[in-house]
Formats: sequence, C-alpha cells, structure tokens
Amino acid sequence: MVNELDPVAGDLVLDLATGTGDSAKAIVRKGIRVVGLDISLEMLKLARKKIPDDSYQALSGSAYAVPVRAETFSAVTCAFGIRNMPETPKALKEICRVMKKGGRLVLLEFSMPAGFINGPYVFYLRKVLPFIAGLFSDREAYDFLGESIEKFYRPDEFSQIIIDAGFSKCEKRRLSLGCVYIHKAYKG
Ligand SMILES: C[S@@+](CC[C@H](N)C(=O)[O-])C[C@H]1O[C@@H](n2cnc3c(N)ncnc32)[C@H](O)[C@@H]1O
Repeated sequence: MVNELDPVAGDLVLDLATGTGDSAKAIVRKGIRVVGLDISLEMLKLARKKIPDDSYQALSGSAYAVPVRAETFSAVTCAFGIRNMPETPKALKEICRVMKKGGRLVLLEFSMPAGFINGPYVFYLRKVLPFIAGLFSDREAYDFLGESIEKFYRPDEFSQIIIDAGFSKCEKRRLSLGCVYIHKAYKG
C-alpha cells in the first residue's frame, strides 16, 4: 500500500482507521508526515507508543466526520479499515472532502476470491480461522472478521462506490489470490 501511495516530500497523509499504527508506521518511515485517525482511543494510545516520531499525529474521531478542514491532505490511506464502516459511501465522501485536489486515495482491503479458491477460503473463514484464533484469543472477533469479509463489496462494485463518492481514475490490484485488493483513486 505504501509503495502504491508513492509518497513525496511535503505530503501530509491521513491514515484512516489507523488502529495500532502498523500502516502509519510504514509511511512515517519514508519521512512523510502522517495523521492517524481512529474512533478508538485505546488503539490510538498503542499507535502513539509504536510511533513516537514528531511526524505522526494521533487524532481521535470518526471517518464519517473527520475533524479537519476541507482539502487538508495530499493523500489518504486505509488498511483493513473501510470494511468496518457500514456506511461506506458516506465515509468515502468524507475522505474526498478532506483531500486536496489531485490527492491520492489508497485502500488495502480484504475481498472474497473468485474461482476454485472461493470454497476453501469460505471454509477457512467460517471454521478454521475462528477455531485457531479461539485457542489464543476472542473467537467472536474472528467470527466477525470472516462475516465482514464475506459481506463486503466485490472489487468491481467497490470501484463504482469509490467513483460515486467523487474520485476518478480508480484502479485495483489483486493480491494473495484475490483475498486482498489495493484500490487506488484520485480526487479529480
Ligand atoms: C483492522 S484495524 C486497522 C488496522 C490499521 N490500519 C493498522 O495498520 O494497524 C480497524 C480499525 O478501524 C477503526 N474504526 C472502525 N470504525 C471506524 C470509524 N467509523 N472511524 C474511524 N475508525 C474506525 C477501529 O477502531 C480499528 O482500530
């Protein structure tokens, strides 16, 4: 995702649903200033610990109402976060509002693979993953993970939602046999 973002000096990037900061950390490492937004204060505290750099700012808030002025960011990233926002079109419109003209949007998200891998992957999400995860942590969280992946938009549908939110030149890149996609677009 960071390579697709192709950050340049002077960029100010919004890392939406920054969580514990793994994606933000990878961007900060490139010498880029990042604002990490998350709805969970606990996640932000962990992100702050992981990224003590001055070039990282943790911001508490919702993706549906980002607490900044319009046209603030040169790029927006979101790794495995947009699927957790049931009002996805609303979140994408809000992302578009806070981006500068020409700004880049790069999203990394799970998807359901097509073809022969689909059946085994459904079995993995419904049975194997929750079982293994349940041995070490909260099984329910992994039941939710699988359900949310199965319910999320198919890649073509998602591209259209990105375009409808005001973006252009939407491209997608298939990774891990279609279990993950990178979606990239620009604010026109
Ligand atoms: C899987 S984690 C993201 C991982 C993170 N991008 C990373 O690289 O470590 C999903 C995050 O989405 C956040 N989230 C869910 N709904 C949100 C919303 N409406 N606005 C902002 N953050 C939200 C959750 O609090 C959680 O931290």
